[in-house]
Amino acid sequence: MSDDIQRHLADGILELRIARPDKKNALTNAMYGALTAGLAEASADPAITAVLISGEGDAFCAGNDISGFLPANRTDAAMVFIRAIADFDKPIVAAVRGLAVGVGTTMLLHCDLVYAAPDARFSVPFAKLGLVPEAASSLLLPQRIGHAKAAAMLLLGEPLDAEAADRAGFVTAIVAGDQLLAHARAKAVALTAMPPRALAETRRLLRGDRSDVTARMREEETAFATALAGAEAKEAFSAFFEKRAPVFTREGAK
Ligand code: COA
Repeated sequence: MSDDIQRHLADGILELRIARPDKKNALTNAMYGALTAGLAEASADPAITAVLISGEGDAFCAGNDISGFLPANRTDAAMVFIRAIADFDKPIVAAVRGLAVGVGTTMLLHCDLVYAAPDARFSVPFAKLGLVPEAASSLLLPQRIGHAKAAAMLLLGEPLDAEAADRAGFVTAIVAGDQLLAHARAKAVALTAMPPRALAETRRLLRGDRSDVTARMREEETAFATALAGAEAKEAFSAFFEKRAPVFTREGAK
């Protein structure tokens, strides 16, 4: 497992902690791999009831490490993780403190119980980066919070703060920062006391028919690959590394 993903198993809960705080917990290919391996372990082990995902430091996750988008570093690790979390067959609890950007937010659409500190801020600035939504967020985000709110997030890249996320039904509850992890852990442990079959069946029914989610993810993956190879993404990534504002031209726009 990557050092930047800490794995801790206790009380039937597998905790996966994103721990790269100096980079705001941005995810590298190795970290995606470690998260995917953690999910596979939890799925295969009957002694594990649920997974708890948290972040070290003041940010939950600043999204994909931008350097991972560069041609030399590109792998399918992110896509494999996203597919794994979308298909995962046990409850996932998340504890979110501070920033949750890109996949830091879209992974939450595949979690069951999301607890947020008052400073949590969710954003999906794919379009700003010359990219398109992922993880079926173009389908699940409007379903979860309504088209108008989702459009502000996905078209303009506007963040949702904890209060707004709570009102919109994006999170389960807001919990004080110093109690966040203990609260999320206690809820995960509470799941272990539930009758396992009823719990699994209830989750299956809650999630419903997943064929539309899978189909949308495939459509997004194709559009994402095209966008990633395009001039807009190239300019957005260059601007990020050069710590300047990107400049997008309308050349070629319809
Ligand atoms: N990829 C790579 N590095 C990242 C990163 C990312 N997604 N997010 C943060 N970092 C790095 C910064 O480059 C910086 O590195 P440095 O100290 O070597 O310069 C470090 O993490 C701390 O980030 P910084 O920007 O100084 O913190 P901040 O509090 O001012 O801003 C963010 C935090 C998350 C708002 C800002 O870093 C950001 O916009 N990151 C990109 C988020 C993003 O677009 N993710 C992809 C979504 S698809």
